Amino acid sequence: MVRAVMVGCGQMSNGWLTAIRETDALARDIELVGFVDLDPDLAAERAAQHGFTSAKTGSDLAAMLEALAPDVVFDIVVPQARRSVVQTAFAHGCDVLSEKPMANSLEEARELLALARETGRTHAIVQNRRHLAGIRRMKALIESGELGEITALHADFFLGPHFGGFREEMDHVLLLDMAIHTFDAARFLLPAEPTAVYCQETNPNGSWFSHGASANALFDCTDGATFSYRGSWCAEGAPTSWESSWRVIGTKGSVLWDGNALIEGAVRDGDDGFFRPTRPAALPEETPLEATGHAGVILDFITARAEGRAPLSVNDDNIKSLAMTFAAIESAETGRRVSISEETT
Ligand SMILES: NC(=O)c1ccc[n+]([C@@H]2O[C@H](COP(=O)([O-])OP(=O)(O)OC[C@H]3O[C@@H](n4cnc5c(N)ncnc54)[C@H](O)[C@@H]3O)[C@@H](O)[C@H]2O)c1
Repeated sequence: MVRAVMVGCGQMSNGWLTAIRETDALARDIELVGFVDLDPDLAAERAAQHGFTSAKTGSDLAAMLEALAPDVVFDIVVPQARRSVVQTAFAHGCDVLSEKPMANSLEEARELLALARETGRTHAIVQNRRHLAGIRRMKALIESGELGEITALHADFFLGPHFGGFREEMDHVLLLDMAIHTFDAARFLLPAEPTAVYCQETNPNGSWFSHGASANALFDCTDGATFSYRGSWCAEGAPTSWESSWRVIGTKGSVLWDGNALIEGAVRDGDDGFFRPTRPAALPEETPLEATGHAGVILDFITARAEGRAPLSVNDDNIKSLAMTFAAIESAETGRRVSISEETT
């Protein structure tokens, strides 16, 4: 049984709590003993709404951790509060599973990484898209060698959500709030790391966001591979999936993936002709996952702790996805190509 305190009881906490309640292994193995929010009424409301009636609720995280001495902290606060929440949790001997982004800046992420190493604590970050059947099947396909050596990944992300609230007021909204998911998915799929980026960011005419609703980014990767990202959060009509729409090109063939279940492609099957003959790419079977999305991340986190291994989106891996985001922002602001390799050391 893992004893957990949840901090940050806003919108996203509902997704976590539903995942925990509805996933047998999580409902069985996690005891939510405390709920904390700057607004103590919200903490109490959230605990009651999901049936955690005997949990303690309040607004002071340090006092709650002092009183309850939990094993882990589930951190779902806004990015600006992440550093102090994680520091407080580490100071009380807790491992932490944080919502994305890992930190509000790369400097803060480096600080948290150093502190985790110093205190011997596990810190993992929610990258829920790593825990979906489609991406696991794509990863298996790439690792099978069917496409040969991967030379390019292309991701399109075009949606027109009207969130209201903070997203419509913030700077770099697409890159900061959403693109981290697609960038992390690219790193998960590609057996190479991004080394540099050139990014152009715009806020197109008609955008209902105040800044940066669209971006085009070109990443260079180790081994000569490239990753291109075209994204917009103010594209009305013809939506892609939230997981983006992908084209993966290898030395033997190409595959299209809609971000959901549809994967189709072809590989070269002969050496003659203007266009060489092709055959349909052989796709691996879909492997069913015990838990998906947020439930998958939480299950991986508690299982990894029990097994003494690193979770899938552990801090020293996730900081590399965060570095892609901040390098893309720096490139957009300066108009220069920005090196990433030094930023993650
Ligand atoms: N993984 C995903 O798909 C996904 C989706 C949406 C949001 N998120 C992330 O989840 C996090 C929370 O987003 P949200 O939509 O729930 O925001 P929200 O504003 O609805 O909720 C955040 C809550 O944190 C509380 N809070 C802030 N600072 C605090 C502190 N120091 N101590 C205690 N409580 C504090 C606020 O009072 C608020 O209730 C963000 O980092 C966001 O990027 C992730």
